[in-house]
Amino acid sequence: MINHYRHKVVLVGDGAVGSAFAFSLLQSNREVDELVIVTRQHDKAVGDALDLADITPLTGPTDVFAGNYEDAHDADVVVITAGVPRKPGESRLDLIHKNVKILKEIIKPIIASGFKGVFVISSNPVDLLTTLTQQISGFPKERVIGTGTSLDTMRLRLILSQRLNISVNAVDAQVLGEHGDSSFVTFDEAMINGQPLNKIIQLTPEEKDEIEEQVRRAGAKIIQHKGATFYGVAKCLSSIVCAIIENQNTVIPVSAPLTGQYGINDLYLGSPAIINRQGIGQVIEYQLSPTELAKMHTSAEQLSAVLKEI
Ligand code: LAC
Repeated sequence: MINHYRHKVVLVGDGAVGSAFAFSLLQSNREVDELVIVTRQHDKAVGDALDLADITPLTGPTDVFAGNYEDAHDADVVVITAGVPRKPGESRLDLIHKNVKILKEIIKPIIASGFKGVFVISSNPVDLLTTLTQQISGFPKERVIGTGTSLDTMRLRLILSQRLNISVNAVDAQVLGEHGDSSFVTFDEAMINGQPLNKIIQLTPEEKDEIEEQVRRAGAKIIQHKGATFYGVAKCLSSIVCAIIENQNTVIPVSAPLTGQYGINDLYLGSPAIINRQGIGQVIEYQLSPTELAKMHTSAEQLSAVLKEI
């Protein structure tokens, strides 16, 4: 029998990140039969839908169209990229007030549509907006995911692979904590080709700080040059969405709901998690060294302090 199980994705926000995500998703997955673009600038969505439809003869039979929040009622995934992006010199946390307002205007009509799928958020500050999406929607925590430190982890793997002159595939190292200024690298647990990183190369504390800082500043550096970052986070979004619709059970460092892991509660924060059809299948609690655990707590404390003020 032919398997007619197909998928629907609703994209909310059609700025640079949204449209790059749509482009990436169509190229990564042939099983999305509907991709709906929802944005306040309806004309942009209509234009993007037509432009993206042009690639479907090569990517797969996806119906791409500009729609509205009601289209979420039978969607598998709603991706939220809407929000004000960072300007040069701004931190992700600086965006919180403007983007919480936008988020509230989006979540309510989506819930009213009867949406029963998984929310995936990339708008910044992503850990807080993911936490708030879950709170506002009242959804089970496993059905709300943020891009978190997935992009920081890609940046780290690239930096280490260049430094060691080895394929990125050999680098098993993660960035955890806030997707922002308090993120940190799990140097103590990092592995290269199955061997502890610390055995392969003796990085001095200064070198480690430098790599960590390079990862933290990577987004700001791109913004400095071209005013925005979008391909990196768009690719992270499409890999998370593919992991959901293909029920991959793949492990990705995302903004994950912490319910006691690392001694942290009631907050979404960058941590590896198994992603499948349910959304978050399981949050993986890394065995962090005491120094790294302290960094995880610093991230949590800083975000919780901002959350209290909202
Ligand atoms: C960046 C944005 C997505 O780090 O925060 O590129």
